[in-house]
Amino acid sequence: MPIPYKHEPFTDYKTDEAAYTAMSDAIQLVESQLGAVYPAIINGKEVTSDHTALSINPADIKECIGTVHLATKEMAEQAIQTAAAVYKTWQYTSPVMRADILHRAAAIIRRRKHEFSAWLVKEVGKPWHEADAETAECIDFLEYYARQMVELSAGKPVLSNPGEHNEFHYIPLGVGIIIPPFNFSLAIMAGTTAAAIVTGNTVILKPAETAPVVAAKFMDVLKEAGLPAGVVNYLPGLGSEIGDYLVDHIQTRFVSFTGSREVGCRIYERAAVVHEGQKWLKRVIAEMGGKDTIIVDADADLNLAATAIVKSAFGYAGQKCSACSRAVIHEDVYDTVLEKVVEQTKTLQMGNPVDRDSFVGPVISEKSIEKIKSYIEIGKQEGRLMTGGATEEETGYFVEPTVFADVHEDARLMKEEIFGPVLAISKARDFGHLLEVANNTDYGLTGAVISNNASHIEQAKREFHVGNLYINRGCTGAIVGYQPFGGFNMSGTDSKAGSPDYLLLHMQAKTIAQSF
Ligand code: NAD
Ligand code: ALA
Repeated sequence: MPIPYKHEPFTDYKTDEAAYTAMSDAIQLVESQLGAVYPAIINGKEVTSDHTALSINPADIKECIGTVHLATKEMAEQAIQTAAAVYKTWQYTSPVMRADILHRAAAIIRRRKHEFSAWLVKEVGKPWHEADAETAECIDFLEYYARQMVELSAGKPVLSNPGEHNEFHYIPLGVGIIIPPFNFSLAIMAGTTAAAIVTGNTVILKPAETAPVVAAKFMDVLKEAGLPAGVVNYLPGLGSEIGDYLVDHIQTRFVSFTGSREVGCRIYERAAVVHEGQKWLKRVIAEMGGKDTIIVDADADLNLAATAIVKSAFGYAGQKCSACSRAVIHEDVYDTVLEKVVEQTKTLQMGNPVDRDSFVGPVISEKSIEKIKSYIEIGKQEGRLMTGGATEEETGYFVEPTVFADVHEDARLMKEEIFGPVLAISKARDFGHLLEVANNTDYGLTGAVISNNASHIEQAKREFHVGNLYINRGCTGAIVGYQPFGGFNMSGTDSKAGSPDYLLLHMQAKTIAQSF
């Protein structure tokens, strides 16, 4: 019987000297391993291709994190056939055994916690505290889903009549395609993979193009934890090259995707097409983008409001689906909160996250910085630039934390996901107007209300239409098992990662009625 689930504690590298030393050593260890070559892994064997790609450090683009072999369609086919063959036996393995593999994987990562965080610092430019939180989240997913599976394996009680015995329990689906994003390239990658396999499915894991190495490291952990070959097949490659092939394949039973709205909608549409020879309707779990808002009421703790906005807007350089990319402030306190936000934003240290004190690291890629720069230009037309707005591109992809004030509620800056350190601030007349602006997007992922007015808080609980609503705190940092995570509308299928319901999305219910 495992001890009850409790989330992994966070590390404070600023006060914990031993942790600081351990992380410094881990960064050195990772640096000694940079530049290695990572082939695909199909049925436990390394498979190479003629095409390779470099994973580079976005803070220091001369630094190569590793070289991956890009999967071809032939390799994708081989991976699907392997996953289908291995599924024939894996589906019948004991849930307890599958859960134990996840517990072992969690223990391995916990022992190498700083090393995994160091890979995130290097490969995706995460500051230390953000990398530590992500490694903790990865461990949490493994621990939580392992326990959930054991609970679920008992099935649910149903009624029986005299002379019959009825059973109701869950069985897996089949072959799944796991497509994670770059911004939680360890936690979401591992969490979505773990949920799929602990429920008895086999998968193809196609990591994000900009973060394939940390996924390769996770593959090593799964092997060490005792996962049989072929249950997870690692297929680094371009979404544009193998993505459609994997999604369209008739042996694909489900797709678990986390990423942009554009790609998510494409997958959702393609998966709906029933191809010749296909025996099922594919299931899609799609967690997509956000345009998340913090609203500040007239009766609010204004220091708390400013801190919540700044941390939520600029943590990991705004590259979180949960990031506060817009703040809507009651007109009575607008000037005060704006001033505090600008003041705090100016104190944030931007720089290579290899430095413990860097708060704002790089954005992930050239494509990303170009997109953010174009929104900064739009912002200059749509609002008043209060701070930031410049980039530093000599060594990597750095964008200053940027604040635009007086942005109209219908402006593009208030509607479109930028995915960078750009915050738009808008003014509202009253609490009803605050909520109206907050709900005025296609998305519905996270949101926060800063207020001391109990009836306004109750109103927000009812009317603020987001999957994750936070009161008097920031809108990022959901914890597995505590704040299940997923959004409404164009933020996705609200599949609530880290919830008691999540594993069921990877299973189907079977009823058995036996007469005596
Ligand atoms: P992205 O959509 O560019 O890529 C996500 C994944 O899709 C990558 O693995 C990519 O290789 C793959 N892909 C690309 N084209 C594909 C295709 N045609 N077929 C199949 N796969 C394809 O997203 P990203 O830039 O990696 O991540 C950022 C986005 O993810 C943001 O929009 C963010 O809001 C969102 N996100 C959402 C959540 C959530 O839980 N809702 C969590 C994290 C990130
Ligand atoms: N789960 C992450 C957060 O809540 C995305 O910020």
